[in-house]
Amino acid sequence: MLFDHELAWKDPAIYKEIYVNSIAAPEKFWEYHQNTLFPEGNYNASFNCLDRHAKITPHKNAIIWYGDEYCERREISYARLLEMTERIASELIRRGIRKGDSVTICMPMTPESIASMLACCRIGAIHNVVFSGFSANALNERIFRSASKIVLTVTAGSRGGKMIPSLHNVLAAIGDMDVDVLLVDHVDDFPMDDGALSVEHMKYDDPMFTLYTSGSTKEPKRIFHSCGGYQLYSAMTFKYVFDAKPEDIHFCTSDIGWITGHSYITYAPLFLGLTIVIFSGTPMHPDGGRYWQIIENERVSIFYSAPSAIRCLASLGEESVRNYDLSSLKVLGCVGEPMNEAAWKWLFTNVGKEKCPIMDTWWQTETGGIILAPLHNVKYQKPGFASMPFFGVAPGIENEELIIKNKNWPGLSSNFVRDDQIYHTGDKAMVDDDGDFKILGRIDDVVNICGHRLGTSEVESVVNALGEIEESAAIGVPHRIKGQALCIFATTTADLDQDQKESVAKEITTRIRQDIGAIAKPDKIVFIPELPKTRSGKIKRNILKIIGKKQNIDYDAADMQSIINISCIKEIEHAMTHAIKM
Ligand code: WTA
Repeated sequence: MLFDHELAWKDPAIYKEIYVNSIAAPEKFWEYHQNTLFPEGNYNASFNCLDRHAKITPHKNAIIWYGDEYCERREISYARLLEMTERIASELIRRGIRKGDSVTICMPMTPESIASMLACCRIGAIHNVVFSGFSANALNERIFRSASKIVLTVTAGSRGGKMIPSLHNVLAAIGDMDVDVLLVDHVDDFPMDDGALSVEHMKYDDPMFTLYTSGSTKEPKRIFHSCGGYQLYSAMTFKYVFDAKPEDIHFCTSDIGWITGHSYITYAPLFLGLTIVIFSGTPMHPDGGRYWQIIENERVSIFYSAPSAIRCLASLGEESVRNYDLSSLKVLGCVGEPMNEAAWKWLFTNVGKEKCPIMDTWWQTETGGIILAPLHNVKYQKPGFASMPFFGVAPGIENEELIIKNKNWPGLSSNFVRDDQIYHTGDKAMVDDDGDFKILGRIDDVVNICGHRLGTSEVESVVNALGEIEESAAIGVPHRIKGQALCIFATTTADLDQDQKESVAKEITTRIRQDIGAIAKPDKIVFIPELPKTRSGKIKRNILKIIGKKQNIDYDAADMQSIINISCIKEIEHAMTHAIKM
C-alpha cells in the first residue's frame, strides 16, 4: 500500500506514515503519482481536462453555470465544452497565436471564460487571466507587462446587479497598444478547422499560465506555473483534501481571476472529470440564499468558499439557511484568509450540520495548490487551524513566519528554483503541541481584503501621485466581515480645511478605483501632520497599525524609542478620531 488516502482520512497514524514516506523519498512518491495521473504521458491540460472525458462521458455535465439572477442557468457537457474550446482555439490560431504566446483573458465567470483558458492550453499559448473587476489601468499594466498579443473578453457581464462593461474596459486598457481583441460571446460563430487543429504536445516543464499577484513591491508580481507540476499538484491536492470523486458535484465560489479559480474551479476538478458549478453573481444578490439554493438544486457535495463570504452570510442568522436542503454536502472548504472560530462554527453547524469536515486550506498563488489542510474526516477538526501539511511538503516556523523547508514539490511556481533553500511565505503562523498549524495573517506589507491580496505600496504609489499629497502609508486594519480593510494615513503639501480634506479623500478613492479597482477602495482616510519615522527615514507602520485599530492602544516601548518625531503620535491618535469614512 503506497498510498491510500481514504484510510489516511480515517486514521491519523496512516496519514503520518504516508507523510513521513513522502518526505523521506520524494522522487519515488511524486513519480508514482505522476504515472498514475498521466497514463498517456500528455501534459496538455486541455487534453487532460476535456478529451479524456469527452471520449468516455461526453454527455456528462462539465459545467453548470448560474448567472446573476436565480433564473439564469446553463448546462455544458464535456462534449460541448470540448467543442467550445476547439472553436476558440481555432480562432486563436487563425489570428496568429502560437505555442508560447501570451494571451490575456479578462472575463466574468462563464463557461466561455473556462473554455477560453482551455483553448489557450490546447494550442500551448500561455494564458494570463486578469480579474474582471480590475480597473482599465490595472488591466493595461498586466497586458503590457505580459506582452500579450491578444485579449479575450465578452461584450459585458453582470455581477451583484451591476453591469460589468468588459469590452469597454478592455478597449480603454489597450488604448493605442498593438493588441488584438477577441470577443467570445458567441463561440459558435468561430468556424471549426476540421481536424486541422490538433492538441499541441506539451512537455512537463513547458509554461502553462501566468497570474499577477501582489507582493511588497509597487508592481504586481508575475507568477509562472508549468504544465506537469501544476496539474499534478492541483489534481492530487484536490483529490486528497476534498476526497473528490468523479461523481461529486463541486461548487467553488472563487473567480478565475485568482489562483483558486485556476486550480479548484477549473483545472483540478475537470482533470478528475467532476461536474463543476460556477456562479458569476455575488452571495447577496438578490438575496442571501444564492449559495444555499444552488447547493440544494444541484445536490452539491463539495463546497469551497471564503471566510469573508461565510461571515457575511452568517450575519444573516441561522434562519437564512434553515429552509434549504443541504444534505448532499460531504465536505466544506475555505481559503484566502484566516477563518475565525465564530464563522467556522457557524459553517460547521448550520451548513455542514456537524457531519461535514471543514478543510481550512492554506496556500498561495505561488504554491499552485493547497499546502496546509486538516486532511482528516470530521473527527479531527480544530476550528481556526489549517492544521497539517500535504504530502511531500515540509512547513516550519522561523521568527513567527511560516516557511517551507523544501522546494521539491511539484506545485511550486517555476519562478522559484527547486533547490534546498527555504521558501518564505510572508505569513505569520504558530504551531501547537500536536504539530497543527494556525495562520495568523501576513507579516509583510500585504493586506488581505476579502481574501484578496493587495500590496500596500501599490496603493501608496497611487495616493502619492496626487498633487495635494506629500506622503502616505496604507495600513490593513481589522474588519468584522472583510477580515481586513484599508486605512490610509496621508500628509498634505499644504494645510487643508475640512471641506478640502473631504474632497481630496474622494479624489484618492476615485484614483484608487481607476488605477487598481474597487477591491482596493479604502475604508478610512486620515490626514495627519507627519508620519512617524525612524532615524533612517522608514515609516513606522506597526505604530500606525496600532493606532488604526483604535482600541487598546498599547505601544511597545522599544518601538516608540526608535521614532525620531515622537510628538506626532498624539496628533495622529487625535486625527484618527476625525478619520474620513469612505
Ligand atoms: C492568505 C490564495 C489564512 C495568506 C489561495 C496567503 C490564508 C495569501 C489562507 C495567498 C488560510 C490563504 N488561512 N490565510 N486558509 N489561505 N491565505 O496568492 O495570507 O491570492 O499568503 O492565494 O492568502 O493569497 P493568494
